[in-house]
Amino acid sequence: MCGIVGYVGFRPALDVVVAGLKRLEYRGYDSAGVAVLADGGLATAKRAGKLVNLDKALAEAPLPGGTVGLGHTRWATHGAPNDANAHPHLDNAGRVAVVHNGIIENFAALRAELAGRGHALASETDTEVVSHLLAEAFSACGDLAEAMRQVCRRLDGAFTLVAVHADEPGVVVGARRNSPLVVGVGDGEAFLASDVAAFIDHTREAVELGQDQVVEARRDGVTVTTFDGAPGEVRNFHVDWDASAAEKGGYASFMLKEIAEQPKAVADTLLGRIDEAGTLVLDEVRIPAETLREAEKVVIVACGTAFHAALIAKYAIEHWTRMPCEVELASEFRYRDPILDQRTLVVAISQSGETMDTLMALRHAREQGARVLAICNTNGSTIPRESDAVLYTHAGPEVAVASTKAFLTQLVACYLVALYLGQVRGTKWGDEIRDVVRELSGVPARLERVLETMEPVRELARTLADKRTVLFLGRHVGYPVALEGALKLKELAYMHAEGFAAGELKHGPIALVERDLPVVVVVPSPRGRSVLHGKIVSNIQEIRARGARTVVIAEEGDESVVPYADHLVRIPATPTLLQPLVATVPLQVFACELATARGNEVDQPRNLAKSVTVE
Ligand code: F6R
Repeated sequence: MCGIVGYVGFRPALDVVVAGLKRLEYRGYDSAGVAVLADGGLATAKRAGKLVNLDKALAEAPLPGGTVGLGHTRWATHGAPNDANAHPHLDNAGRVAVVHNGIIENFAALRAELAGRGHALASETDTEVVSHLLAEAFSACGDLAEAMRQVCRRLDGAFTLVAVHADEPGVVVGARRNSPLVVGVGDGEAFLASDVAAFIDHTREAVELGQDQVVEARRDGVTVTTFDGAPGEVRNFHVDWDASAAEKGGYASFMLKEIAEQPKAVADTLLGRIDEAGTLVLDEVRIPAETLREAEKVVIVACGTAFHAALIAKYAIEHWTRMPCEVELASEFRYRDPILDQRTLVVAISQSGETMDTLMALRHAREQGARVLAICNTNGSTIPRESDAVLYTHAGPEVAVASTKAFLTQLVACYLVALYLGQVRGTKWGDEIRDVVRELSGVPARLERVLETMEPVRELARTLADKRTVLFLGRHVGYPVALEGALKLKELAYMHAEGFAAGELKHGPIALVERDLPVVVVVPSPRGRSVLHGKIVSNIQEIRARGARTVVIAEEGDESVVPYADHLVRIPATPTLLQPLVATVPLQVFACELATARGNEVDQPRNLAKSVTVE
């Protein structure tokens, strides 16, 4: 939440910062602002609304040029999304500018304290206290990094801060606690940003900051210290994707591009994880095999779409390893006092690696002695750093707020973890693992086929654009797929959409069914689990008898559903447990098209942000 960019170097800072903010707008789009050090002072501009409003303001009233600056795109927490609350925030003398992501929990007390010393605060934000405190500290010590360290020691909560001071030009200072900040290191320049996408055009060499660290960036390098001033430990990394991956590449939206990238994302996530003999080689899982053998249960924590991946993973883990597997919303987990110990393997799934609820859940798990394995898409992020081990999904940058390719790769990673546990614990024979791996390797080609046949789904979505409600039904692994289909529709089309386990229908939800209500049904493969299949075919008949308009997603060759489908969407035959990989794609396309038909902006749905760094 909130995108932050800081720059020091030789390029026009405003250009670098605004281009960086464009890449970070997915993190929040309630307002945007910039500040540049120029002519011995500080020039700023900020506007409520999307970045385009700021762009217009800058075109009408250009700022003076300078090579040091910062910028912010906001997802509002404290104070309405208006011009006054937009970042950057300044001190009363207008010499220091601060941008912030997170929440400063003790801001009310600090605000009262500052007011008592005669400071006039101009906004309703928690952030503004930092600019005033920094100005005071700087006037006493004359060193922005030291001032930042002193101020950070006084702050409670989660924050990323980036600041510049007109009296110390040539320096950008950043700080982080429980909120993301990465450093890009170029030749004669340095970048501070919430995400590497902001500086990928200029450098792929990055530094991952640790917890409670302050970074001082100058043209000739960066210095990292702890909040107490001790040298800070950092990790250097090379970003393994380039600028083109962060562009729309000819698609109308990032979401469409990311849906289309799914075959490659799945293939990349499998790459290098299976040796020639078909054995899984998950070198990243540094948790000793002995510990995995002795583990008594798996607990998966995640939020939103990642939670749906976790629900599907439960079926695979329990079936393949015979270990009990619990799945819990990360936001509920630690408040429940969950039963955890050294024999619990906790899996934390997160695309961004920054979701605060998931981070807090994994911290709680580690405090109780559990081992934590992260499944994550973002190198340099906090969740993998704080876990015992990490399995990266190689989806590439996911920019659209609604998760698509990350979800599919999270599923692949979950299947790999489940098979790996089966391999290590000896609950799966080598040839059984090889069979599943062979099926997984065939998924990218199946996804290509699904994507080639989506025009009727798009057409159907357009015809349903004026509906008020859409229901989604599934059984077994099709149930989380139904939940995911409903979530996508809610967040993109702003429609009432609900996913149900089809067996629950008669226990209440069937009362919602009325004439012409669209109901999307995910049908499991008729091969293998025929009982499951037969039951859902009955469910389709039941809702159709009550007037529902049925949209049936069924495997190629499954003729039994044909008489009851008002609209039939075919997906390639896939083993039941892996079917979510192909069955989800039509639901993503459906939601994206329907939202577009309603005039919504699919990449940046209202009220949302990509990376949820507050609880
Ligand atoms: C929905 C969506 C969200 C995220 C959730 C977790 O399309 O994207 O529900 O899945 O906010 O985010 P991560 O995976 O970054 O922890």
